[in-house]
Amino acid sequence: MHHFHYIRKRLFCEAVAVESLVQKHGTPLYVYSQRTLTEHFQRLDRAFAPLDHQICFAVKSNGNLCVLRALANLGSGFDIVSGGELRRVLAAGADPRRCVFAGVGKTGAEIEFALRRGVCYFNVESVPELERLNRIAARLNKVAPVAVRVNPNVEAFTHAKITTGTYANKFGIAFEQVEAVYDLAAKMKNLRLRGLQMHIGSQLTRVSPFAKAVRKVLPLARRLAEKYELEFFNIGGGLGIVYQPALASGPENWWKTPAAKDILTPERYGADLAPLLEPLGLKILLEPGRFIVGNAGILVTRVEYVKRTGKKTFVIVDAAMNDLIRPAFYDAYHEIIPLTRKNGAALKTDVVGGVCESGDYFCKNRPLPKVVEGDYLALMSAGAYGFVMASNYNARPLAAEVLVNGNQSAVARQRQPVEAIWSGEKLAPWLK
Ligand code: LLP
Repeated sequence: MHHFHYIRKRLFCEAVAVESLVQKHGTPLYVYSQRTLTEHFQRLDRAFAPLDHQICFAVKSNGNLCVLRALANLGSGFDIVSGGELRRVLAAGADPRRCVFAGVGKTGAEIEFALRRGVCYFNVESVPELERLNRIAARLNKVAPVAVRVNPNVEAFTHAKITTGTYANKFGIAFEQVEAVYDLAAKMKNLRLRGLQMHIGSQLTRVSPFAKAVRKVLPLARRLAEKYELEFFNIGGGLGIVYQPALASGPENWWKTPAAKDILTPERYGADLAPLLEPLGLKILLEPGRFIVGNAGILVTRVEYVKRTGKKTFVIVDAAMNDLIRPAFYDAYHEIIPLTRKNGAALKTDVVGGVCESGDYFCKNRPLPKVVEGDYLALMSAGAYGFVMASNYNARPLAAEVLVNGNQSAVARQRQPVEAIWSGEKLAPWLK
């Protein structure tokens, strides 16, 4: 579900023609629909209404200050994984007491900063991290609120690079060891055990792995909750979205299309998990990223060249793997549609960027309408893990980002000036 749709052959984001944004702000351009992310947040929130719960949006999926502020205004908390993300949340004017701090590699400086700012609690991923946290809290004369991340060793059936809940992954503490770790942590004077956390992977499209992991962890959660008076159980993020075909049967009906009928919806997620979780009597925390913002953003790009060589047609565009790395990195599918709807036969096309790597492509051999230089294309469902994973590879400036709300639009981030790419660099004295 999203609010990008054609009106008389022109692509609109809510009530704004995307082409008008491109004319104003140039390309490559990320465009976000506030209404889409609002509705996603509210749908998930409603699905968990029977439980005492809190959504903590995963900042890693989209850290733009406008996105964070819009979600904070809806009552969202935040799942952060670095001192930088905590600073982003603060810069957006949101409340650090609603931040849960995760990640396997928290540095001493990050822990100290988060303790001083009073985050809700730390998701701890190892015994050495517990010890470090205890030491730093003691030095600051504070008590650190803690949950341990349990690795339930459940297969999530998702891409290998984004599965996290098996023993082949670096995340969390093995299910069998968790109780002993709580016993150990309980003896550390400057820690306070508050909850239990898990996260089994990202872009999950079925409810069964979630239910399996919850069922497996529940008895453990019950024992620990009783013994240590825990307050919450954090079930992580991971709800998948439909990348393909987002517009096929109308924006309102994507989950009803036959190809997508097995797709996990927030309603099914809530309906299946709430009855399992309710008897636990703990507050339930959720850490969704992609589900909230994935379909709420697109990346707009201009066709620079159309090149026919050998047997292939290459459409070379002004966005590249440095702007959206998901196809290159995960072989991810992003639907590609023109800003002006075209009639006529589809042509097998590779849409590629200008970076000097064969992996720099957005699609391969995909039937697409014929385009010419100067046309604009939209890469759909680019709101999560899009801009946040961008780089300056090939000295390409970071794209601009725009937020749309109804018929209003605002620059959420200006295009990076090219000089800013090397502004932190200095010539060594002996080179001058
Ligand atoms: N909580 C934890 C502990 C996580 O590791 C993640 C994502 C989330 C929550 C949010 O997951 P989500 O609801 O967005 O699935 N760059 C990859 C995705 C990496 C996910 C990393 N962890 C991609 O582009 O598909």
